Amino acid sequence: MSQVPFDSQGFRRALGRFATGITIITARGPDGAPVGLTCNSFGSLSLDPPLVQWSIAKTSRNYGALCAATYFAVHVLDSSQGELCWQFSARNRDRFASLEVEEGLAGLPLLRQHHARFECETHARHEAGDHTIIIGRVLRLCEQDGDPLLFYRGALSRIVPAC
Ligand SMILES: Cc1cc2nc3c(=O)[nH]c(=O)nc-3n(C[C@H](O)[C@H](O)[C@H](O)COP(=O)(O)O)c2cc1C
Repeated sequence: MSQVPFDSQGFRRALGRFATGITIITARGPDGAPVGLTCNSFGSLSLDPPLVQWSIAKTSRNYGALCAATYFAVHVLDSSQGELCWQFSARNRDRFASLEVEEGLAGLPLLRQHHARFECETHARHEAGDHTIIIGRVLRLCEQDGDPLLFYRGALSRIVPAC
C-alpha cells in the first residue's frame, strides 16, 4: 500500500484506475449550432426524480454553451464507437463531421448510434473547483443493443467478464 503525498499527476493516475464508460454530451449553442464533447464524468444521481450528472472543465471552449444550455443529451457509447471518443475530444476537428444526427427535444442534436441515450433538461449547476457539475432531469431515454465502450488508465477498453 502506498500512502505518499501526491501531486496532480499522481492524482490523475490514481483516478485513471477507476474504469468508466464514455459518453458524448451534445446541445445547441446560443447560435443554434450543435456543440458537444467527450465526457467520462457522467453518472446516475437520482431515480425519483430521474436525475443524472456530469461535470465540465471551466477551460473548455464549450463551457459557456454547455453551461447555458437548457437541454442537453448524453450518449453512452458502444464498443464500436471508439473513434468518436477522440473526435469529440480533439480541438482541431469538426466534431459532427460525417455523423448521422437527428433532432430531439427542443431541437437537440442527437447521434443516431449509441448504447444508451438520455435527453435532459438542465436541473441545476454547482461550482466545484475547476469544473462545474451539471445536473439534468431525464425527459426521454433510448437504448440499443451492443456492449459498452470503457475508459481505463487513459485507454479505450471493452468489458471482459470477470468470472
Ligand atoms: C475519455 C475522455 C473523457 C473526458 N471527460 C471529460 C469530462 O468529463 N468533462 C470535461 O469537461 N472534459 C472531458 N474531456 C475533455 C473534452 O472531451 C475535451 O477534450 C475538452 O473539453 C477540450 O475541448 P473543448 O475545449 O473544445 O471543450 C474528456 C476527454 C476524454 C478523451
